[in-house]
Amino acid sequence: MKKILVIHGPNLNLLGSREKKIYGQTTLAAINAELAAVAKKNKAAIEFFQSNIEGEIVSQIQASRQKFDYLILNPGAYTHYSIAIRDAISGVKAKVVEVHLSNIHARESFRRESVLAPVCLGQIVGFGKDSYRLALEYLLAR
Ligand code: DQA
Repeated sequence: MKKILVIHGPNLNLLGSREKKIYGQTTLAAINAELAAVAKKNKAAIEFFQSNIEGEIVSQIQASRQKFDYLILNPGAYTHYSIAIRDAISGVKAKVVEVHLSNIHARESFRRESVLAPVCLGQIVGFGKDSYRLALEYLLAR
């Protein structure tokens, strides 16, 4: 059975009320529920973690080595500058799909760079909540 951890970074707890034109109307709980249903249907185990704190995300990535095969990570703003999260991914050789609701490449120039993408399996961006589902479907098929 594949074991997958979904990590949501800072401000993603506000989904549903935060900048709806960019991030959509769906709450984080609803996104997680949809992913849980897809995982169940495919007999995979899935868990969820959200934090606004960089060090907590680093610790989760480190701890994931023992328990999970893959991570789906939306690092929020940490995408663009967290060398600590990048080093955690490399340090434990985590297999990560980076996801973003918005198309970060079509937004402000500071969002166009991901310091994490080079240590991830790949990146899925711009499909709203479906970015997460597409990442999960890829990992289930992998
Ligand atoms: C985001 C994009 C980031 O640039 C931003 O800081 C977020 C959300 C996304 O899912 O589109 O918090 O990761």
